[in-house]
Amino acid sequence: MAVNLTSLQVMQDAPVIPVIVLNDVAHAVPMARALVAGGIRMLEVTLRTPQALACMEAIAQEVPGAVVGAGTVRSAADAAAAAKAGARFAVSPGYTKTVGQACKDLGLPLLPGVATGSEIMMALEDGYTELKFFPAMQAGGPAMLKAWSGPFFDVKFCPTGGVTSQNAADFLSLPNVACVGGSWLVPADALAQGDWARIEALARATCQWVR
Ligand code: 3PG
Repeated sequence: MAVNLTSLQVMQDAPVIPVIVLNDVAHAVPMARALVAGGIRMLEVTLRTPQALACMEAIAQEVPGAVVGAGTVRSAADAAAAAKAGARFAVSPGYTKTVGQACKDLGLPLLPGVATGSEIMMALEDGYTELKFFPAMQAGGPAMLKAWSGPFFDVKFCPTGGVTSQNAADFLSLPNVACVGGSWLVPADALAQGDWARIEALARATCQWVR
């Protein structure tokens, strides 16, 4: 994997990005190894827990096959802390110019979150053409993406939020969808039980039908 990734490379790799919430640093490395063994290397660790940065650092240092990214990036400080911890891409639940500029300054590919046409236009103004559609199911699902494919013909989306193994194919079949994101690949109970085999099996099964 090239040192300087593009947003499109991040999207097209799996093309499923696990949205990961880690409460225990000890889970980070075995979980990442399980996902990589199952065929998924782009790992979005959300900045929602006090342990998130330490988890990213552990994955970046100890799992060379993984490409760790930061999710829930809401500020320039979040982006800087994530880059310092070894994150190689960033995902944000919304879009601000400040976050967009911070990621550019850091050389961090960003998938900015959008849910409306105006937000898409703001991201486009700043040069972002690969966007996260969040929260995808709640904000209109596949029908919304079909509607956007007219005016925003040059945008690729990563729908996230309410995406599951049951509905992911509905999104991935759309020409303006490059990947999907979701938490279903790393269930909280599998993490709590240290059930790395289940996480690996979920990743492997997902890769088999999405590719
Ligand atoms: C999030 O940021 O919480 C993601 O969109 C994950 O949503 P999900 O849990 O519905 O997959």
